[in-house]
Amino acid sequence: MSERFAAFDQLTTLILVVQPDGAVLHANAAFETQMRLSRRTAKQHMAFDWFADPAPLAEALASVHRRKVDVSRFEARLLRPPHEEALEVWVSVSLGEGEYELLVEMIEATAQARQEREERSADQLRSSKDLIRNLAHEIKNPLGGLRGAAQLLALELGPQSNLLEYTEVIVGEADRLQSLVDRLLAPHRHAPQVSDVNIHEVCERVRSLLLIEHQNQHPGHAGGLRVRRDYDISLPDFRGDREQLIQAVLNLAQNAAQALAPQIEQGGAEIVLRTRVARQVTIGKQRWRLALELHVEDNGPGVPAEIRDRLFFPLVSGRAGGTGLGLHLAQTIAQAHQGAIACTSEPGHTDFVLTIPLP
Ligand SMILES: Nc1ncnc2c1ncn2[C@@H]1O[C@H](COP(=O)(O)OP(=O)(O)OP(=O)(O)O)[C@@H](O)[C@H]1O
Ligand SMILES: [Mg+2]
Repeated sequence: MSERFAAFDQLTTLILVVQPDGAVLHANAAFETQMRLSRRTAKQHMAFDWFADPAPLAEALASVHRRKVDVSRFEARLLRPPHEEALEVWVSVSLGEGEYELLVEMIEATAQARQEREERSADQLRSSKDLIRNLAHEIKNPLGGLRGAAQLLALELGPQSNLLEYTEVIVGEADRLQSLVDRLLAPHRHAPQVSDVNIHEVCERVRSLLLIEHQNQHPGHAGGLRVRRDYDISLPDFRGDREQLIQAVLNLAQNAAQALAPQIEQGGAEIVLRTRVARQVTIGKQRWRLALELHVEDNGPGVPAEIRDRLFFPLVSGRAGGTGLGLHLAQTIAQAHQGAIACTSEPGHTDFVLTIPLP
């Protein structure tokens, strides 16, 4: 009987096949996993057992069964074993194959919202990228002329002139703009250098670069920042651009260290580099069977709320002296590896996760 439903086990949405009275005929693997059920024990339950409020489900089952509507949709909270958070889901109830079979599909509300948000921001990022590249080129050319002219002017004025101050400002600002433009164009400049990459080599490089920087910036607090590793060493190598990936992960780690700066003086600041295998992941619109996840986590104050939606946009910065290019660059590099970077953040715990598909 349950072979009929075997295909449901391939899906990441949670699925219950129930009778009109709510008795469970089948629960798919995703449902069992999310609800912490052991294999095939769901049939001893009524679907209502898992719903914080069973009334909307009862109503939906009744009206779909009586063909008042084809599909009934509502939001619900699923109860999990004690001490675990309830799961917010979007539910859709429709007719199954037989007259006495109803299909209850549930998709995690947060997963759905995240997926939509990621898609939207990837689209926006792509369209802003061309604009930026063109703009950067347009700025670059006259900038050289501007700087050269200011230098000629300075020569003309002679070393004693008190107007030299002004030409110095022009040259200095032109240089600042030049380096900004260089960083904007950087991801498009080099052809990728593809080789076998070991993600832990990347992590180790980032870790040592970070610790060196930390020592230079906080000489009196060498022990104030801990960079902990939590690696899944079973992760295989993959094809990618090692130097670019180091740059991307370093940008994430530097942001974490900057956010932790006030805490470093007091001690207790921690960054975690965590690697994991992920199965059945969706990146953009594409599904991958296997992917690696690299989490860069910190226990700092969290991403400022006002920039959370635009975090990966160029020139969005929440800190004094920031250019707001680090995350944009990192995301561009992740996309070049068919991956993505996502962020969850609350005070005390910020998690930037880089996902890259594995062969
Ligand atoms: N781990 C983090 N904790 C708190 N805020 C963060 C974290 N990572 C990033 N941010 C916020 O996101 C903003 C954008 O980061 P991004 O790396 O793109 O630019 P930046 O660090 O300001 O400048 P740049 O990296 O170009 O020097 C940061 O200014 C900071 O406000
Ligand atoms: Mg940065």
